[in-house]
Amino acid sequence: MRSGLRLAFSGAGARWRRTMGLSDMDGNFTLAHLSDIHLPPGRRYLGHYQAKRVLGMLNWHRRRRRHHLASTLATIVADLRREAPDHITVTGDLVNVGLPSEHEAANRWLASLGPPERVTAVPGNHDIYVDMALARGIGHWQAFMADDEPVSAKDPFPFVRRLGHVALIGLNSALPTPLFHAFGRLGPDQLDRLGPILSRLDDEGLVRVVLIHHPPLPGLAHHRSALQDAAALADILHRHGAELVLHGHNHRAMLSFAAGPTRAIPVVGVPSASIGLAHGHQPLARYNLFSIAPRLGAPIEMVERGIAVPGGPVIEIGRRVLDPALAAVT
Ligand SMILES: [Fe+2]
Ligand SMILES: [Fe+2]
Repeated sequence: MRSGLRLAFSGAGARWRRTMGLSDMDGNFTLAHLSDIHLPPGRRYLGHYQAKRVLGMLNWHRRRRRHHLASTLATIVADLRREAPDHITVTGDLVNVGLPSEHEAANRWLASLGPPERVTAVPGNHDIYVDMALARGIGHWQAFMADDEPVSAKDPFPFVRRLGHVALIGLNSALPTPLFHAFGRLGPDQLDRLGPILSRLDDEGLVRVVLIHHPPLPGLAHHRSALQDAAALADILHRHGAELVLHGHNHRAMLSFAAGPTRAIPVVGVPSASIGLAHGHQPLARYNLFSIAPRLGAPIEMVERGIAVPGGPVIEIGRRVLDPALAAVT
């Protein structure tokens, strides 16, 4: 089952024992997942005239700015604050054409969510848009990608953050791509390090949550925007396991299951958190909340929250238990 099994997102799961966001007597950890923020690029792009950036800016001004709305993102973040999760994850595409000024804004936006101890991010293809020193780009929000332990600046991924009984494993699938392409790649160095990291965290008894921008399994994205080494990643997940994989990039609500060594691994894609007007097949802005029990193998509970109509309030879209037994459903 290397390529995983895609299921329709029904949003009609089992009823939860309690409302997400209230204190949990079972010691569950609440994790929020947002993605594809696409903050506006502003006008400070003089001197950054790579062809891809010029087309990206045209695309922003002609199309994207009509759909990715700051007011919608603010509505989502206000609801997120009320839910008060234990930790917030953001799986990339914080910006549009990867300008240094955009990354400064991305750092300010992440800091507005909470301190780095409460917020974790990984980059998307729009964050590493053209070939540029990381320090001038995603390095601006390095604090939100910091490993528990000192790591070499040359190899900052995968990073690991231990949060109680949960461990976040942050991957970088983004790299500069040619015009009209948005594919991703982890590369052999990250893949080589990932397996032993997953095994070590399993030995520590931690619930492993992998963060990646691109959909991590083969067949989940168009080939021009897919993760090129998805099969290798699926093989590592199959051999070493994980309890949950979170991704963005497709701007769609997605649920798949990857094969694991003992049980299937839920793979959840969240839509953009800033879509305020209908945009093709992309749903209006959403984010997900996960309730993670302190027992390895316990099903993870999930609620989707988002806006149902342009300018409307955030409501509960659906909830379900991510039961690995669902992976057997055809
Ligand atoms: Fe995106
Ligand atoms: Fe993307």
